[in-house]
Amino acid sequence: VAKTIGRLFGVGTGPGDPELVTRKAWRVVSEADVVAYPAPDHGTSFSRQIMADAISPDAIELPIIIPMISGRAPAQAIYDEAAEQILAYLNAGHDVAVLCEGDPLFYGSFMYLLARLRDDVAVEMIPGVSSLVASASAALRPLAARSDILTVLAAPLSDDKLEAAIHGAEAVAIIKLGRHLDRMRALIRRLGLMDQAIYIGHASLPHQKVMPLGEAPDDAPYFSMILLYKGSDPWIN
Ligand SMILES: C[S@@+](CC[C@H](N)C(=O)[O-])C[C@H]1O[C@@H](n2cnc3c(N)ncnc32)[C@H](O)[C@@H]1O
Repeated sequence: VAKTIGRLFGVGTGPGDPELVTRKAWRVVSEADVVAYPAPDHGTSFSRQIMADAISPDAIELPIIIPMISGRAPAQAIYDEAAEQILAYLNAGHDVAVLCEGDPLFYGSFMYLLARLRDDVAVEMIPGVSSLVASASAALRPLAARSDILTVLAAPLSDDKLEAAIHGAEAVAIIKLGRHLDRMRALIRRLGLMDQAIYIGHASLPHQKVMPLGEAPDDAPYFSMILLYKGSDPWIN
């Protein structure tokens, strides 16, 4: 199948600090004819904010607006439409960079566009520094060590699923925290793991917060996670 003339770049922007953007991501975004990014229906796009200084004033910007409360079905329609728009630019010979906070293929929304466009489009991925490693750096502790089983969990999962997964893991990251913070804290307390749990908000940004989960603010932002360490203690062994 003939691929489009324009190239599609899936660009990881890193976790927030513009100095953690790779040189390649910076170059690709500064050269792109079209820059697309997910944006909330209110407020600014985090990935655009990270890359603001790289975006050319001549670039066409294409915000992909995902309502915060949208369920799966409306989001699918939004990605269908965004994929159509991007394809039109690529067919016209324009290069399109799609920004994605952290790494695009680590729980990133870029995968929904990739699934729709992969067969017809020349795609290049630019990996980014994920919030997972940025959070471990913020907390000044290893994410996982030796033969530890590292488990990444999304807070919207049910308590039963979370509990079973935490049971089988040694190092755990709980992402997509936001409004689930209270429930996660209660669960971790019930499992007797409060002493091993660290809360990290806005890792790598000037207002980054790192503290024991027991001291975390009640209103966790969306860009926050819990790191939980049940494995062999790397500080001792
Ligand atoms: C949809 S996932 C996207 C992950 C992203 N693609 C990555 O590689 O980090 C969004 C979740 O990542 C975590 N996250 C992203 N940026 C963060 C940051 N700067 N500090 C702490 N957690 C962050 C939060 O748990 C947030 O709910």
